[in-house]
Amino acid sequence: EKGGYEYFMLKEIAEQPQAIADTLLGRLSDRGEIILDEVRLTDQDLRDVDKVFIVACGTSYHAGMVAKYAIEHWVRIPCEVELASEFRYRDPILDRSTLVIVISQSGETMDTLMALRHAKEQKARVLAICNTNGSTIPRESDAVLYTHGGPEIAVASTKAFLTQLVACYLIGLHLAQIRGVMYADEVAAVVEKLQNTPDSLRTLLDGMEDVRALARDLRTASTILFIGRHVGFPVALEGALKLKELAYMHAEGFAAGELKHGPISLIDDGTPVVCIVPSPAGRGVMRDKVVSNIQEVRARGARTIVIAEEGDEGVAAFADHLITVPPTPTLLAPLMTTVPLQILACEIAAARGNDVDQPRNLAKSVTVE
Ligand code: F6R
Repeated sequence: EKGGYEYFMLKEIAEQPQAIADTLLGRLSDRGEIILDEVRLTDQDLRDVDKVFIVACGTSYHAGMVAKYAIEHWVRIPCEVELASEFRYRDPILDRSTLVIVISQSGETMDTLMALRHAKEQKARVLAICNTNGSTIPRESDAVLYTHGGPEIAVASTKAFLTQLVACYLIGLHLAQIRGVMYADEVAAVVEKLQNTPDSLRTLLDGMEDVRALARDLRTASTILFIGRHVGFPVALEGALKLKELAYMHAEGFAAGELKHGPISLIDDGTPVVCIVPSPAGRGVMRDKVVSNIQEVRARGARTIVIAEEGDEGVAAFADHLITVPPTPTLLAPLMTTVPLQILACEIAAARGNDVDQPRNLAKSVTVE
């Protein structure tokens, strides 16, 4: 049933190219327009939206953080992201022109469900991104976009995360198109890039042997830090979360720009720091900022593990270990950069003798608050 893989997690990591392709399937018209046919909100409802809230927990929350960058960039309306367990107990200002997007793989997470009910009481429109047909969260939402990731057995979320990202991108592009902020040909150009990601990801997955060797090396580290900027920031948080939950190691993700405001003092001789470097194409300034952050941590003794785009020759000099990913537009890059971090966490956990698919103290679906 594990299809020749040692763990469900490795099988599910390997299924990611197909999971992305399946989530994109049937969602694009011949004219390159996006069809969200399970979305039961009218185009007019969506044109009236003046604010988006994304609410979720854990890994799904990290998908929401990435979505914020895409939605604000493409749709040009304010988008907030919040942990479901916090959202409920605040007094968020919502009304019928607010779109609340809830993201949940299982569709049964209690905190997310309670946030959804809270949003509906305030008359907000609720759109669910979910991987489980007929589960409670999509049933109670006004609309749902199912991710077609297939069942996820391992407790740690992998393919669900990447398909959630795809669903978020589709919603962002759809909103931009029907609100007239992006033309059909601009949307089609992004969609074409999205359609290329399964192939890029297959290439990436074929070159991960090095990460396995690195994992054996890092298994005794006392902490591993992760830094990133822009969409690389949620990727850093996700890399740290995976490591905590699977390897039972201390790990933390930071916005690279925050280092000098405190966390840089954590860095000691040999502290492993995983650095997610933005693509040099598009936003070269951001890439250069991260490279200077890498130099800063290295000057203080860090052992740098650098995830950068193929062809970004300049980073090699600052990398104790370089992992390259295929070129991908900035906003879509988390579909690539997350994957080596999933493998790293899985392999470190295995090297430490942990139960990769069933980490201690965790359940696949969290139906208590
Ligand atoms: C981490 C992980 C959890 C879930 C979180 C939300 O690998 O799996 O952090 O992402 O419990 O679960 P869903 O998406 O089912 O609401």
